[in-house]
Amino acid sequence: MNIVILNGSPRPHGNTAAMVAAYREGAESAGHKVIVFDVCRMHVAGCLACEYCHTKEQRTCIQKDDMQQIYPALDEADMLVLASPVYYHGLSGQLKCVIDRIYAPGYPRRLRKAALLLSSGSKGVYGGAVYTYQHSFLGWLHLEDMGVFVAAGDENKSPQLLERLRAAGAALTDPDDHNIARLVIRAGDVEVKASLNQTQAARDLMNRLPLTVSGTDSGVDYCCELKEGAFDEAEKQQGWSDGDVSVADGWFAILHSGQEQSQGCRVMVVAHLDEAANAQIRALPQQATFELSLEEPYVSAHDFESLEGQS
Ligand SMILES: Cc1cc2nc3c(=O)[nH]c(=O)nc-3n(C[C@H](O)[C@H](O)[C@H](O)COP(=O)(O)O)c2cc1C
Repeated sequence: MNIVILNGSPRPHGNTAAMVAAYREGAESAGHKVIVFDVCRMHVAGCLACEYCHTKEQRTCIQKDDMQQIYPALDEADMLVLASPVYYHGLSGQLKCVIDRIYAPGYPRRLRKAALLLSSGSKGVYGGAVYTYQHSFLGWLHLEDMGVFVAAGDENKSPQLLERLRAAGAALTDPDDHNIARLVIRAGDVEVKASLNQTQAARDLMNRLPLTVSGTDSGVDYCCELKEGAFDEAEKQQGWSDGDVSVADGWFAILHSGQEQSQGCRVMVVAHLDEAANAQIRALPQQATFELSLEEPYVSAHDFESLEGQS
């Protein structure tokens, strides 16, 4: 898989850099492609909160700086690794600027996994950084936790630490279907589930859940208005299979019937309902309201307590 490591330490030969190098070595030995960005040697400004990305230009940041190198790599990444020295109980400021600029594209596209590497002077100082990781990356972006690795004081650059990081990198495997999130569709007493695929539209929808949409049965689908989100036109397909769920161009639709006549339509399929689930949708009244959510629990909770216990 493609792994992007954001190294937030300004010291090229420092403790964080040593952790990054070991993790990278392990991951590359397992055949993964790793790109490391030393963000302290790049020019990345903080987010302006101008909302240009969410109002004027779809998901594109108005600021043109070295994020232009990071965005394309993140677009192709399966895994994101945040690496940082602990500064005042948090991530370094330079890394925080990069994180805040993720706001524009929103991610994930194919991003599925994450890990956190932290170096500090003292033990038990990780709460701030781990909170950001847990809530913004595992929770908000729905990434799977591949571990938090910490080193304090003398542990930094120790052979045991570096070997542990090498082994963790080497143990990484490609994202598999077990981690695919499931979309829950509820209409009154009916509840059906469908696995979301890896399209940009599916990932974007995931990040906007929960949502409530309403629509009328046209005979082949329930077509519901939904505020425009991000999707890749190239990922659209010609025609649908009964049970496909599509999201694009300001619509959420459950395409429950009519696959034989659908070849003339271009649709952005994000999920598919099996026959039994699709039959339940077909039996709904003509006017229906759908509550869309993500199946819980999707993200494995990291054992934060064990890290705090190190103080
Ligand atoms: C501005 C600054 C703030 C720091 N804040 C903390 C802190 O809150 N807790 C801590 O244990 N160490 C703190 N440190 C120490 C670093 O986290 C530690 O030396 C780390 O290993 C540096 O990693 P590096 O070699 O990659 O730069 C701080 C260092 C600096 C320069």
